[in-house]
Amino acid sequence: MAPSDHGHDGPGGPAATPFDKAPSPLMEPEGETRILAISSGKGGVGKSSLTVNLACAIAERANSVAVIDADVYGFSVPRMIGLDEDPDVENDKIVPPEVSGVKVVSMGFFLEEEQAVVWRGPMLHKALEQFITDVAWGDLDYLLIDMPPGTGDIALSISQFLPRAEVVVVTTPQPAAQRVAQRAAAMAGKVGMGVLGVIENMSWFTGDDGKRYELFGSGGGQTLAEQLGVELLGQVPVLPEVRIGSDEGRPVVISEPESEGATAIFGIADRIIAAERALAAPGAPPHQPHNQHHGQGLGASPSGSGSVPGGGLSVTPKSRG
Ligand SMILES: Nc1ncnc2c1ncn2[C@@H]1O[C@H](COP(=O)(O)OP(=O)(O)O)[C@@H](O)[C@H]1O
Ligand SMILES: [Mg+2]
Repeated sequence: MAPSDHGHDGPGGPAATPFDKAPSPLMEPEGETRILAISSGKGGVGKSSLTVNLACAIAERANSVAVIDADVYGFSVPRMIGLDEDPDVENDKIVPPEVSGVKVVSMGFFLEEEQAVVWRGPMLHKALEQFITDVAWGDLDYLLIDMPPGTGDIALSISQFLPRAEVVVVTTPQPAAQRVAQRAAAMAGKVGMGVLGVIENMSWFTGDDGKRYELFGSGGGQTLAEQLGVELLGQVPVLPEVRIGSDEGRPVVISEPESEGATAIFGIADRIIAAERALAAPGAPPHQPHNQHHGQGLGASPSGSGSVPGGGLSVTPKSRG
């Protein structure tokens, strides 16, 4: 980051320069915080809804939890979790707003809803780095990341910044979706992240007659889990309460904790909490900065040595100019 990004001195002395800023403990290969990258092959499978509900459910189990909304193409976490506050900035750090016991940082804090942004790889990389290092996260038990759909730059950046991140793949039940989801898992392997498990969403709809209708086919989650050699963490049916919760910013696990949808999601949260940390497959590449991939000067180094000429994202929340 360019030193000029820190234009004001905090009360405790001069503003931190990129060179004396302590790297975030989240970036260390060893550490206590479980980091879960919620991923999918494509959009619309319920990744954001599950990220938000799982974060709230894990927080309900007396954990300190945060979410990074890294889906820069369609940030939706603040709306779904019911956040209408902007973050504060204290001593050059973003203080993440908290709702239902979950701290949130989203690209939505820095962009207007309709603002079209053509993200280049280096800018995304830089923005993610700021989400990790320039935020006063405190001690976290769990950090969930709502990943953009598909594979690519963000997964690579996450694997560099957060070498402990474990991937949770969300899929829908039909075989075609499961093949798309498999690519997300393959990407995880390529960049050295372990896959913790699979969540199948929209598994069935229960009619008024009590019968289960498998609207989107069946078996995709189980098949994918078997192919990847990981656990099927759970299945979530199509339920109005899940959609309404997302639409109204009241996650179903908070608003209707006894409902069928909330019960399914709490079950998945408990399985995640109980699971051993997923490690990268043997033979996976070690975590290394891929400088050439992101162009000049953009390593994963927490020293801040990377600067994007003309492309840095300032961390000034929009409402505070
Ligand atoms: N299990 C579910 N039952 C009913 N609606 C769901 C369910 N999961 C997701 N939805 C709805 O489907 C839409 C897409 O979900 P979203 O979480 O935005 O997907 P993604 O983040 O993968 O694009 C949203 O309107 C959401 O409320
Ligand atoms: Mg989404």
